[in-house]
Amino acid sequence: MASSIQIPDNAPFTPEQRQWLGEFLGNILSQSSAASHSAGPAVPVTVLFGSQTGTAEGLAKKLVKTLKKGNFEPTLQDMGAYDRELLAKEKNLLIITSTYGDGEPPDTALELHTWLMSDAAPRLEGVNFSVLSLGDSSYPDFCQCGTDFDLRLEALGANRIYPRVDVDVDADQPYAEWSAGVIAVLAPTASFSASNKVASDEIDEAGFSKKNPFPSSVLHNYNLNGPGSKQTHHIEISLQGSELDYEVGDALGVYPENPEGVVDEIIAALPFKAGDVPTSTGEEVSLREALIRHYDIGTINKALIEKWQKRSGSPYLRSLVEADDKKEWENFCWGRDLIDLVIDYPADFSDGEDFVSVLKKLQPRLYSIASSPKAHPGEVHLCVGIVRYNSHGRNRGGICSTYLSDRLNANSKPGVFVHHNSAFRLPSDGNVPIIMVGPGTGIAPFRAFLEERKATGAKGKNWLFFGNPHEKTDFLYSDELVAFQKDGTLSRMDLAWSRDQKEKIYVQNLMLKQGAELWKWLQDGAAFYVCGDASRMAKDVDAALLGIAKEHGKLTEEAAAAYITQLKKDKRYLRDVY
Ligand SMILES: Cc1cc2nc3c(=O)[nH]c(=O)nc-3n(C[C@H](O)[C@H](O)[C@H](O)COP(=O)(O)OP(=O)(O)OC[C@H]3O[C@@H](n4cnc5c(N)ncnc54)[C@H](O)[C@@H]3O)c2cc1C
Ligand SMILES: NC(=O)c1ccc[n+]([C@@H]2O[C@H](COP(=O)([O-])OP(=O)(O)OC[C@H]3O[C@@H](n4cnc5c(N)ncnc54)[C@H](OP(=O)(O)O)[C@@H]3O)[C@@H](O)[C@H]2O)c1
Ligand SMILES: Cc1cc2nc3c(=O)[nH]c(=O)nc-3n(C[C@H](O)[C@H](O)[C@H](O)COP(=O)(O)O)c2cc1C
Repeated sequence: MASSIQIPDNAPFTPEQRQWLGEFLGNILSQSSAASHSAGPAVPVTVLFGSQTGTAEGLAKKLVKTLKKGNFEPTLQDMGAYDRELLAKEKNLLIITSTYGDGEPPDTALELHTWLMSDAAPRLEGVNFSVLSLGDSSYPDFCQCGTDFDLRLEALGANRIYPRVDVDVDADQPYAEWSAGVIAVLAPTASFSASNKVASDEIDEAGFSKKNPFPSSVLHNYNLNGPGSKQTHHIEISLQGSELDYEVGDALGVYPENPEGVVDEIIAALPFKAGDVPTSTGEEVSLREALIRHYDIGTINKALIEKWQKRSGSPYLRSLVEADDKKEWENFCWGRDLIDLVIDYPADFSDGEDFVSVLKKLQPRLYSIASSPKAHPGEVHLCVGIVRYNSHGRNRGGICSTYLSDRLNANSKPGVFVHHNSAFRLPSDGNVPIIMVGPGTGIAPFRAFLEERKATGAKGKNWLFFGNPHEKTDFLYSDELVAFQKDGTLSRMDLAWSRDQKEKIYVQNLMLKQGAELWKWLQDGAAFYVCGDASRMAKDVDAALLGIAKEHGKLTEEAAAAYITQLKKDKRYLRDVY
């Protein structure tokens, strides 16, 4: 008989979704339980993940844990370490991957992706597959990497057993639906024990988490830059009472609040009287409260504008939607927020509920943790670049960074959670030398690494490349870094002050200058880390590394590229870039 699984109250579903999911998962468990009496041999399933900052990896691990509770034989595989010769022999292949850069695969997925897209890829008849694709629709190439895998596997003859699910940032519900869906297809021959409450476990995480953030206290919060420069805040947060644990290399998720002034401006310009509106968790709050704490007012994207255009009658928005040109979308969205749509392209909404129905949920932001728990027990430190700019005649700020710098008061309790990232870890052997390239806020995880290496008495050498505009105002953590040099923790520090002279000097210029030494460190087994700006710096640093391999390793272009791919595979070239 079909049963219903109790979905926890804090799971982010509407009552209807909760009921549907509960019944759906209950059905699967009862079917599985019935089938268990005649269960055959365990069903092999390979869960193959491509992840840059740990989300896809976390979901893949969760799925394997779930599968282990049934009559499955699951194998967890990182795309970076996957033996591609196995691909054509897979029986059931479940892919979970994110998208990075401009529609690119995560670093560790790049090689497999390139090979699979090439003529060298084998035919895959006999392989059952399904793809969960993680992404963010504020990027033009939404979920591109997962889409690539999905379409290519189909083109190579593999059998899609369940449709690809594209995840727009918030993975909980789509993951629950997708995993339940693929398990339902595989379940007739591989059952769960009904007592396992598998699906319920998947949705309900114990303790504080992304779904249930810890209301933290801010202990210290100050600008690290000198007067006249940009603003980078060092923020110390207490985790006392949370039982949250982190390791160096992890990130902290922070739930921001939108600026009240902008929210009031939006409400004043709306064509209806503001009443209560539903939030994504199903509660009813005032429109003002909802726009401050629950909905995204800071970014606009194609999906929002398509909905907005239907209600606005603006000929310009209509032409934008009809042209559907990637460059034009980018140009329009860049530097505009919801307030611009409300004021410049008025739209006809019947009431607050209708209005919030087109908005996305306000998302937490991730920050690379800048402290070691060994050096600061019970605390977590961040290094946050405050985003401010003027566009279309308006001074604007990044939602979370300005929340942290401008809108916290003594009573504020920012909701936080730990985002584990096992793809960005110190070498387990403390004797291994490390090279860290972290200009600007990219210094964050390396302050944590240095604290950790000192606290553990690691003997391996540490080399830091740091850069920022001016030595006088922008030498973040200068006292601490100089102290690390003095006590021998930091073996080398190369500083690139980009605007202290006529020509720009960047971290990669210093890498190239020290190329022979850097190559020697790599030959001695050093791990190479990069953190900070993804769009320019990380690409230029990558090119510099390739140049060093060619010049000092005397490698051809192809051999140097292969060397760098191998470094990534060996987890000796790790990036935390954003
Ligand atoms: C794994 C990870 C680790 C991270 N670690 C750190 C860290 O340690 N420190 C840190 O500071 N950040 C870090 N970030 C970035 C951080 O998560 C936020 O993206 C950042 O703080 C900006 O968020 P915000 O809410 O302030 O800005 P948002 O409200 O998200 O606004 C940013 C958006 O504003 C627009 N914008 C920005 N500048 C301009 C401009 N000049 N002109 C027009 N439009 C513009 C763009 O659309 C941009 O996408 C990390 C990100 C990731 C994924
Ligand atoms: N996703 C987001 O919304 C978001 C939010 C915050 C930050 N970021 C990114 O994260 C970066 C970190 O910000 P930040 O203020 O800490 O530092 P930053 O802007 O990266 O600047 C740090 C140093 O890097 C230099 N630099 C510029 N281009 C470079 C390149 N191609 N190669 C190497 N170095 C380069 C800068 O020089 P000059 O400035 O003199 O050229 C500066 O000296 C930002 O650049 C931004 O792209 C993204
Ligand atoms: C620098 C950066 C670039 C990104 N580029 C894209 C993109 O082009 N398309 C997309 O859909 N998502 C993009 N994303 C969103 C990620 O795919 C999404 O956050 C995903 O959940 C991350 O999963 P992971 O932690 O497993 O890597 C990007 C995220 C970052 C930080």
